[in-house]
Amino acid sequence: MPSLALLGGPPVRRKPFAAWPVFDDSEKQAVLDVLNSGVWGGYSPKVAEFERRFAAFHESRFGISVANGTLALEAALAAAGIGPGDEVVVPPITFIATATAVLRVGAVPVFADIDAASYNLSPQRLAEAITPKTRAVIPVHFAGHPADMDAILEISARHGLVVIEDAAHAHGACWRGRKAGSFGHFGSFSFQQSKNMTAGEGGLVATSDAELAERTRSVCNQGRRTGGAWYEHVRLGSNYRLTGWQAAVLLAQLERLPAQLEKRARNASLLHSKLLSTGVLLPPAVDPRVNVHGYYLYTVRMRPSDLPRDLFLRALAAEGIPGLGSYPHPIYTNKVFDGYPHRRGDCPEAERFCRECFWVSHEILLAEESDLADFVRAVEKVRDQAGELLAGASHGSAS
Ligand SMILES: Cc1ncc(COP(=O)(O)O)c(C=O)c1O
Repeated sequence: MPSLALLGGPPVRRKPFAAWPVFDDSEKQAVLDVLNSGVWGGYSPKVAEFERRFAAFHESRFGISVANGTLALEAALAAAGIGPGDEVVVPPITFIATATAVLRVGAVPVFADIDAASYNLSPQRLAEAITPKTRAVIPVHFAGHPADMDAILEISARHGLVVIEDAAHAHGACWRGRKAGSFGHFGSFSFQQSKNMTAGEGGLVATSDAELAERTRSVCNQGRRTGGAWYEHVRLGSNYRLTGWQAAVLLAQLERLPAQLEKRARNASLLHSKLLSTGVLLPPAVDPRVNVHGYYLYTVRMRPSDLPRDLFLRALAAEGIPGLGSYPHPIYTNKVFDGYPHRRGDCPEAERFCRECFWVSHEILLAEESDLADFVRAVEKVRDQAGELLAGASHGSAS
């Protein structure tokens, strides 16, 4: 067998995988239409159309588009009246914005550990984290796998919590036949460059509550109110508006989403048995209540071995497999949370995730069967030469 690419051998694959983002003439025409319309900003009719169509697809009555997913979380928190003195429970396995949005409105993020199987907020840990100050919870549908909304809604209702679903990874995902982002008071979406639908940047708050929708829209549009005068400002707001360009591109991306979700699901089930049979990796465990997994990320756990995760990923990347990653540590270890109560070790499942798990980015799941076979071959090659890899790493030749 040829030696590992990381040790100077030939890689399994030199061809690039499918590029992301995917676009065609429909995005090009959409951008041109906005250009020619002369209305380029947040009042473009494309913005209102996108809000309507995205919200309808995601089974919410209202959609309020914003400049990005971070602002979507901040807007939802602000519209819910969360602020100083309030605590908001968040998981530690997520992007930093889930927790810093809480800081941005002056409230305190409280981290509760993840579930060992789904990697989502553990309902049991959520229940334990609730104090008299807790006002809200932000479950993240991590990787596109919906969080346990049955349990989270039940606990939240018992404690009167506002539920803001962070659905940045979960466009089109379904829990018990219902769209992620439609269960809580708010659903928050991102359309940043890497997401399953993108306009480079962008975000949206979904809600089915008319009063919350009005407050969110006002927060996102300089404190204006629907039907109010242009220079009438009824609350503290800002300019979070999405542009016409982005909305037009996102309308085209939304059309493509259902077929892409299907293709990712097909490829994920193909990978499942193949990765399992390598004996070194555990593919994602999908809760039977998940009808549609968003597969923004395909999460993989390494079975116990001497091979450190990061060395394994470096070896796979050298074999020509892109899009692999993981969080280096739970987000509460970041300096920005100094002074808040969480320490390394507080969330053992999150810590374990950061040692043992990695993800494969969603565009790999849009590849063809032969591309996926290369991925599996690379895993097998690294598995079979783990001893050489470890020796190479300790001699400094695995670079
Ligand atoms: C889970 C999660 N929440 C929120 C965000 C923030 O979205 P944005 O980058 O659009 O601000 C991201 C990532 O980008 C994310 O992955």
